[in-house]
Amino acid sequence: MSRATPIRGCFVTGTDTDAGKTCVSAALLHWCTAQGWRSAGFKPVAAGSQIIDGQRVNGDVRALRQASSVALSDAEVGPFQFEAACAPHIAAALEKRVIDGAALVRHAQALAERADVLVVEGVGGFCVPLSAQWDTADLAQALALPVILVVGLRLGCINHALLTAEAIQRRGLRLAGWVANTVDPAMMQAGATLATLQHELTRRYRAPCLGRIPRLAAPEAALVAAHLDGAALAALLGPRQTA
Ligand SMILES: Nc1ncnc2c1ncn2[C@@H]1O[C@H](COP(=O)(O)OP(=O)(O)O)[C@@H](O)[C@H]1O
Ligand SMILES: [Mg+2]
Repeated sequence: MSRATPIRGCFVTGTDTDAGKTCVSAALLHWCTAQGWRSAGFKPVAAGSQIIDGQRVNGDVRALRQASSVALSDAEVGPFQFEAACAPHIAAALEKRVIDGAALVRHAQALAERADVLVVEGVGGFCVPLSAQWDTADLAQALALPVILVVGLRLGCINHALLTAEAIQRRGLRLAGWVANTVDPAMMQAGATLATLQHELTRRYRAPCLGRIPRLAAPEAALVAAHLDGAALAALLGPRQTA
């Protein structure tokens, strides 16, 4: 897999599935649109589908499509969608399909050419196999985008965040920032946990916190975006800042 020209945008990964990647990716797209930029979401591989508006589609794909300012089809946002809600390479095998990494990179490049900013939502955590040969970290590497890590605030997240940050660095990628997302509002010592994340991710990676999302009654893109740090995002995604 190789990349023709640098893409302006980011690769959103998470400490785990359900960390809040889709919510944050949609919020980033919304924020970019509010800056007057053409924004496009990309969900390279999506496992699990629902019937939405009478069509079978993955919920993440639909959410990113709706948050994009560029008019895109579901298939453009999510070229590899599978019905079974399980690990992607297993979901693909169930449908006797193979996830083509080179095609994904070409697809991302084509989307990026139609937008000012491309927001790529990863799949599950950072190192999820997509075939017998390669994984989501390889995809992030091929796209060479700065990585945003969504930390789902729950017990164990400090370890998950630091392991993920280490993996990102080992792939030669830049951990451009992280977002703290409140997945467990009853978490004990959430403030001290945040302070530890802030200290460690700054000390080890100089990665800024790009936002702290509270538990929201309805985590719509605009509401989540209101909790992101606009100045930090402008530095990361603005016109002069490419990967
Ligand atoms: N801050 C939040 N407040 C309320 N609900 C949230 C919040 N963050 C995530 N959710 C909900 O939690 C679930 C998982 O979030 P999602 O963004 O889909 O995670 P991921 O993309 O990492 O799997 C979704 O139902 C989402 O709406
Ligand atoms: Mg998601």
